[in-house]
Amino acid sequence: MPQVIGIPRETAAGEKRVATVPEVVEKLIKLGFQVKVEAGAGDAANFGDEVYRTAGAEIVSGAAALWAQSDIVFKVRGPSADEVKLLREGGTLISFIWPAQNPDLMQQLAARKATVLAIDALPRVLSRAQKMDALTSQAGVAGYRAVIEAANAFGRFFNGQITAAGKVPPAKVFIAGAGVAGLAAIGTAAGLGAIVRANDTRAEVADQVVSLGGEFVKVDYEEEGSGGGGYAKVMSEGFQQAQREMYAKQAREVDIIITTALIPGKPAPRLITAEMVQSMKPGSVIVDMAAEQGGNCELTEPGKAVVKHGVTIIGYTDLVSRLAKQSSTLYATNLFRLSEELCKTKDGVINVNMEDDAIRGLTVIKDGAITWPAPPIKMAAPPPKPAAVALPPAQKGHGHGGGGAPASATRTAITFGFAALLFVLIGIGAPSAFLAHFTVFVLACFVGYMVVWNVTPALHTPLMSVTNAISSIIAIGALVQIAPPLSEGMTRPEALIQGLAGLGIVLTAVNMFGGFAVTQRMLAMFRK
Ligand code: NAI
Repeated sequence: MPQVIGIPRETAAGEKRVATVPEVVEKLIKLGFQVKVEAGAGDAANFGDEVYRTAGAEIVSGAAALWAQSDIVFKVRGPSADEVKLLREGGTLISFIWPAQNPDLMQQLAARKATVLAIDALPRVLSRAQKMDALTSQAGVAGYRAVIEAANAFGRFFNGQITAAGKVPPAKVFIAGAGVAGLAAIGTAAGLGAIVRANDTRAEVADQVVSLGGEFVKVDYEEEGSGGGGYAKVMSEGFQQAQREMYAKQAREVDIIITTALIPGKPAPRLITAEMVQSMKPGSVIVDMAAEQGGNCELTEPGKAVVKHGVTIIGYTDLVSRLAKQSSTLYATNLFRLSEELCKTKDGVINVNMEDDAIRGLTVIKDGAITWPAPPIKMAAPPPKPAAVALPPAQKGHGHGGGGAPASATRTAITFGFAALLFVLIGIGAPSAFLAHFTVFVLACFVGYMVVWNVTPALHTPLMSVTNAISSIIAIGALVQIAPPLSEGMTRPEALIQGLAGLGIVLTAVNMFGGFAVTQRMLAMFRK
């Protein structure tokens, strides 16, 4: 018998999301399940009952009937005490639970002999679990929406524009905390054309900030901010002081600040003080995404948008719900991916396999027994860092004897020694005319090498830049050979040399202009 997945209407105040969407209903049915949706469950997210019905779901009126007919209930928010009573004895519930914060709820669910999978307990360290990571998908939506809220309150363009009516400078946006929500905000603000800067205590996110079009602003203080598992740790007082100074400077310069800084299980770090708000330009905007955890800004009022010192401070705690269609679709897809893992046989019956690391982590109650927290997952040990070559103190800085660098220094010294000896021998044996030419030749090689190798690849690839630099030197040399004598004493080079120089100019010109043509064609391939 295929099991029934039930989707009740969310009852929490202001919650507009729904746990599955019509396009995912079809996929769940393909896995063998029957899907029932409470009438009106998708209304707030713009999915009407009719669309669910077309997708193959059965519409059930009333929460009590829906819960009673469901073997497995998909929800967004954890159930209320009333909803727990509706859960069928021995039934399965999949939703956000936050077991650490809700011990009473855990007890009530256990009393129903339920099996509960808390989507927030997913072991995020498993790369296989990413497709089921609802925390990430929802935080990404919130980061996007934070920028949209900021743009709405800002009242100016994000991108710089030159119009007939005058020049508009681009908006400057500073993002505090570059986790999931922060990175989404960086990408969105940069996409709208703003100048985006970001800071995080975890230095390893700098590359991600840059790849999304932002600039990483470092705190001028050496301290590693990673607390393991991709989360931050509480920083030292010295660091915090240096960070406050940097944030104060940013506050004076930027138009919009979006704060997302959070350490799980800790109150949100206070990063934006009242003085910083006061120092911002009038009309600036702060979106404090950490409002629910106490706020990153001292003046935030959770759930509200307020204007203080001429700055709009937005502390909405329902950013995800404000984009309900998108967040519901992503959440539904996360739950579908989980359903695939739970029902590998595609026969519409789930198997909560506690041997599977991801499923084990998610399962906080199994048949009425509390199984949270899951034991930590044993990851394969990371490859050991290459041990630094430690020199005995006596050898440091002298460069003789053992160790990598000193060996190469010795080799260089020997090479130079040989070269010098060779020059002395040549000097003794060779005619003086040869010596003059030889000296010029050696110097020319040196200067040529320096000129070519120090070219900055600005227009081309590094290889093209180097070959073009060589071509340019050839062209200059050849022109000197062809040119008429510059002074009385100089003789015109032989016809053969002039001919060769002419040929050199033709070939090098082919190389140079050909290079430009090829580069243009390559660039055209990347232009939209
Ligand atoms: P995350 O853990 O991925 O990111 C938080 C980032 O803050 C981390 O990169 C961390 O290194 C950084 N951080 C911690 N302390 C810092 C400090 N002192 N200075 C600078 N950076 C610091 O979390 P995620 O998922 O991106 O969520 C971010 C925030 O957004 C959380 O507060 C979350 O509750 C909130 N949120 C709010 C929503 C709303 O509707 N208002 C919706 C979704 C998330």
